Amino acid sequence: MKISLWCNICWLLSFGFIQAQNPLRLDTSKYEIQTQDFNGKTIKVRAFERVVYVANPIDLNHHVLNIYIPEEYFNNEKINGYSAETAPIFFPNRVGGYMPAQPATFINSSQKGGGMGGPPSNAVVMALSKGYVVASAGARGRTNKNANGNTGKAPAGIVDLKAAIRFLKFNDKVMAGDANKIISNGTSAGGAMSTLLGATGNNADYEPFLKEIGAANATDDIFAVSAYCPIINLENADMAYEWQLNKIKTYNFRGRTGELNAESIKVSDDLKAAFPNYLNNLNLRNESGKKLTLDAEGNGNFKELVKSFIVASAQKALTSGIDLSKTNAFEVKDGKVVSVDFDAYMVYLERMKTPPAFDALDNKSFENNLFGTASIENRHFTEYSSKHSKDPSATLADKQTIKMMNPMNYIGDKSSKTAKNWRVRHGAKDRDTGFAIAVILATTLQNKGFKIDFALPWGVQHAGDYDLEELFDWADSICK
Ligand code: DHB
Repeated sequence: MKISLWCNICWLLSFGFIQAQNPLRLDTSKYEIQTQDFNGKTIKVRAFERVVYVANPIDLNHHVLNIYIPEEYFNNEKINGYSAETAPIFFPNRVGGYMPAQPATFINSSQKGGGMGGPPSNAVVMALSKGYVVASAGARGRTNKNANGNTGKAPAGIVDLKAAIRFLKFNDKVMAGDANKIISNGTSAGGAMSTLLGATGNNADYEPFLKEIGAANATDDIFAVSAYCPIINLENADMAYEWQLNKIKTYNFRGRTGELNAESIKVSDDLKAAFPNYLNNLNLRNESGKKLTLDAEGNGNFKELVKSFIVASAQKALTSGIDLSKTNAFEVKDGKVVSVDFDAYMVYLERMKTPPAFDALDNKSFENNLFGTASIENRHFTEYSSKHSKDPSATLADKQTIKMMNPMNYIGDKSSKTAKNWRVRHGAKDRDTGFAIAVILATTLQNKGFKIDFALPWGVQHAGDYDLEELFDWADSICK
């Protein structure tokens, strides 16, 4: 009796000790079996839901991770050539509009994948059916608050997703799936998060923020990025938008329509004129090694490169039997799209946003709201909009926060471990941000030696997860 009491105490103490040492160790006994029929097959998984992924959570509604593991992996079986040891981990986020996000789920998985537009996404179920382990993290966003003020302003969302990656790496040995093969996926603001995860692996800039929430002691670099229409490069995106759409004077912003007034036209002209200087200083190269540039009018081989992606998209559409004539933008000869008239294509595309498209002069855009602080709702993040602000109390965000929200600052940088593999899609009918933003991302990756699969899918608006078979073909091609 005495001995067994003593043993119990010993056991409790040692258990407590182990727990105290590893507060972020995944409890592999705490799961629920879930099943779902998909494509004629019953998918059975162990579901570890709402696992808190940081030691000092400040938001228990968002610092939670859902992990789904195919049951086959607990019976030493293989799926699609993958085993419990080799299965890649698919890491979709549901961030949209830089808002707070819940983790994706397996049951009722046809919730929105992320971003502000597009159909529901089946990505979680599709990934599991192809043998991937799925992990999806919640993340704070620009409207989160507690008694101390705002809690989800930049860089909170990306810090949270990095912390979730650290949790997965920290638990690699106790969990099925290979944490060296994490593939992130997201759309729009969630696409931006995905590119940030890929660009900024292990970068010290995020360390104090990760420490504050008690992220696991592990690395946070990832293997691959999938991003749909990423809303990135925010501090340069206003210029890119006007370079592209300066001649389009009417807008349709999610149903709010109108015409640019003289003041807006002047803003558009200013921003358009500033774009070539930005672009020329990037020192991007085309495939033959020639520097990509624009002249003062905004013409040059960079514009030709953007046009070449539009032409490639149209060619694919034409080959599949789509009639391009209503766009009035293409020259077609013998089944070949020979060229695109850029201005005519913009008329077909239409303008969504008024200038400046991101750093709004009234300081009220999603992005102004993203760059707030614990005590300030909205801030500017460009010199131009700060200087021309209509909000008398507006301030400019600090350089470091702006830097940390832009993957372009980190790709291939010595201080980051950038993901090796990238897949970026931006719809050829998407006007939430300019095509140049996606082309600059793809070209930077290509120039710096990363593997990039990039296209503007024909007719696609602002959406994601619309080509899941192709997405997982790509994922298999880099994992196998
Ligand atoms: C999203 C869309 C936008 O137009 C934007 O400026 C920011 C985010 C989105 O869909 O996530």
